[in-house]
Amino acid sequence: MALRNIREIGDGVLNKKCKEVKEMTPRTKELIEDMLETMYEANGVGLAAPQVGVLKRIVVIDVTGEDPYVMVNPRILETSGEQTGNEGCLSVPGKTGTVTRPNYVKAVAYDENMELYELEGTELLARAICHELDHLEGKLYVDMVEGPLMNVEDLEDEEG
Ligand code: NI
Repeated sequence: MALRNIREIGDGVLNKKCKEVKEMTPRTKELIEDMLETMYEANGVGLAAPQVGVLKRIVVIDVTGEDPYVMVNPRILETSGEQTGNEGCLSVPGKTGTVTRPNYVKAVAYDENMELYELEGTELLARAICHELDHLEGKLYVDMVEGPLMNVEDLEDEEG
């Protein structure tokens, strides 16, 4: 396993639509392992392949630090409710902004062994699924932010 370089806003790779994974290869498995390692190292709750410069439909998510989900060719099947809260992205370091997302998401994806599974999430997991799947369409949360994009530091000062 190896850490990969996280691409930052302004890098064109973040605005491109990703391609379906047709088959699991040793190279793709290595990419998934590297994405997990890179996400944990950066203290993120999710990471999408384009964030490490690979235009494949793969995301990794772990909102608790002990429950990783690998989602290959993910699709959202159902959403409901609404949540409004602060969101950040490893590709937009030091920034946060308010985004409204569904409060419940049901998705389907393949795991790292190309086994199909369904995943249901509420609150932070629902938000993470939506945020990461947007990356696969070349979309960043900064284009959905309600109000100003804030510095994480300022926010921490405000909250003490
Ligand atoms: Ni992100």
